[in-house]
Amino acid sequence: MSTPSFTPRVFSGIQPSGDLHLGNYLGAIKNFVEMQEAREYETVYCMVDLHAITTWQDPADLRRNTRELCASFIASGIDPEKSILINQSQVPEHAQLGWVFNCVARMGWMGRMTQWKDKAGKNAENASLGLFAYPSLMAADILVYHATHVPVGDDQKQHLELTRDIATKFNHDFGVPFFPIIEPVIKGAATRVMSLRDGSKKMSKSDPSDASRINMTDDADAIARKIRKAKTDPDPLPDNMAGLAERPDARNLVNIYAALADMDPQAVLDQHAGSLFGHFKLALADVAVEKLAPIAGEMARLMDDPGEIDRILGRGAERAREITVPILEQAYDIMGMIRS
Ligand code: TRP
Repeated sequence: MSTPSFTPRVFSGIQPSGDLHLGNYLGAIKNFVEMQEAREYETVYCMVDLHAITTWQDPADLRRNTRELCASFIASGIDPEKSILINQSQVPEHAQLGWVFNCVARMGWMGRMTQWKDKAGKNAENASLGLFAYPSLMAADILVYHATHVPVGDDQKQHLELTRDIATKFNHDFGVPFFPIIEPVIKGAATRVMSLRDGSKKMSKSDPSDASRINMTDDADAIARKIRKAKTDPDPLPDNMAGLAERPDARNLVNIYAALADMDPQAVLDQHAGSLFGHFKLALADVAVEKLAPIAGEMARLMDDPGEIDRILGRGAERAREITVPILEQAYDIMGMIRS
């Protein structure tokens, strides 16, 4: 099979399940903005509401969380003119191709997904069928755009391998090189944002302590206070990263500083070696407030005008469908479905 060339296109998605925090921003959204600005690819960013409902969502919460996620994208610098910004259920071809992929993927493949095993746990009999099929819909999200590059966190790597398996099997079963074999774009360790109360645990919306995370909606005071109270140790900052190997709380703050200031962690240490954390935290709070407080302010402004958010998403869906409708049509045609 000769391999056709595909337009370089980025696709990524985030679940609108609420409570966005610094981990979402530094681990995903900030990188989405950089890929948009690089102008090397077309960029498509998606709120995956159909994935969110694989576990129960209160309808009012889902509506609000979807708009809030959209607001966070825009406030962070995703430009709905430069990127295609969409809500998954408003582009029906995702679900349509998802069904096709349910017929391509094998039960065994799905059963091996670690996220399925973690989320379903001992109660698999009671999990939704949608939760089991989650990775198949995710493959459809990506492949219905013929996307070539998918920036995700480490935890999604297995789902991207499955996306490659689905594309390969479809191409093989029908003897056409129709779907691209995607490249994962996994970000390095520096963007793993850990809890401010325990540097060995990921920052998480499900941590009962609000002080453990910086929420994207936190104002300047809250941001500065949480950084001041972040867990550290009594030692001064070392002059190289190896000196932080056994100091997860300290390392986390240095990494957060580096990511927010667009610096190498080593460059942060070059500037702050020998400082105590009392002092370093003041500098970190300054950078964090400078970068994050305007985003929170802009999110609040956007959330005051939900009609405007909905218009942006409507327009995004129209632009998306210029890509997805022809690709789905071709896939149906390849499989022998009558198009008239
Ligand atoms: N599963 C992803 C997550 O939980 C979200 C997602 C859904 C996604 N569809 C996608 C990410 C397509 C990248 C591409 O983070």
